[in-house]
Amino acid sequence: MAQSLSTQAQSPETEAKQWHSICPVTMIAPNTGVNALVDTEQVAIFRVGETDEVYAVSNFDPFSQAFVMSRGIVGDRQGVLKVAAPIYKQNFNLKTGECLDDATVKLTAYPARVVDGQVQISA
Ligand code: FES
Repeated sequence: MAQSLSTQAQSPETEAKQWHSICPVTMIAPNTGVNALVDTEQVAIFRVGETDEVYAVSNFDPFSQAFVMSRGIVGDRQGVLKVAAPIYKQNFNLKTGECLDDATVKLTAYPARVVDGQVQISA
C-alpha cells in the first residue's frame, strides 16, 4: 500500500498500466498484426480492416510454443472477431484472448486504442 497520495503516482502498479505509443495505425496492413516489445512483453497488435479499431494479445502462441501470434490473420467466426494462430490454426477471440477451440486456453489481452493516428497499448 502507498503511504501517502503523493507517492502513489510513482508506484509500480501505476507505471505498469501506462499507455505506450507503438506506431502509426497506417503502418499495420488491414486485418494483419505486428509484434511490438512493450517493456519486456512481446505483444501482437492487430488492426481490423482499414479502421482505427485495434486489439492486442500476447504474441506467444501456447499451442506451437512460439512467439508467432502477430502473424495470425484477423477474421470473424459467427460475429466474434478472432485471430487464427499461424501454425496450428486455433482461433482466439481478439477482444478477450480466449481460445475459441479450447476453453482451457487464453492469451493475455491488452487494452489497445488509436490516439491521433498512433496505436497505443496499455501494459
Ligand atoms: S514505457 Fe515501457 S514500453 Fe513504453
